Amino acid sequence: TTALSLFLLMHPSISSSFSSTKTYEEVQFFNTNNYHHGIDWYMELFPLPSNVSSDFLFEKSSAYFPSEDAPRRAAALLPKAKILTVLINPSDRAYSWYQCLE
Ligand SMILES: *[C@@H]1O[C@H](CO)[C@@H](O)[C@H](O)[C@H]1NC(C)=O
Repeated sequence: TTALSLFLLMHPSISSSFSSTKTYEEVQFFNTNNYHHGIDWYMELFPLPSNVSSDFLFEKSSAYFPSEDAPRRAAALLPKAKILTVLINPSDRAYSWYQCLE
């Protein structure tokens, strides 16, 4: 997901959410009580698009995938959102985490 984020950010019309210090840099909006802060709170985590009709905003929150709430909430608030899921071999995931801890 980190590599995909970096590649997406190379596109001039694509921006990501600002980093959060409270949530390990991931927004964790749709799967947590952050959702009850509302869409305005969520949108303040993103830069203003320079062109609202051509720019894309994205965030990555790895805990959306196992959440039961996230799909329903995302569909209700952002019905036109595109959702990308990156699947990885669990042993590669564990090794990646191990490298982050070093
Ligand atoms: C915004 O993007 C649209 C669609 O690509 C384009 O037609 C328009 O000229 C852009 N506006 C500005 C101010 O760049």
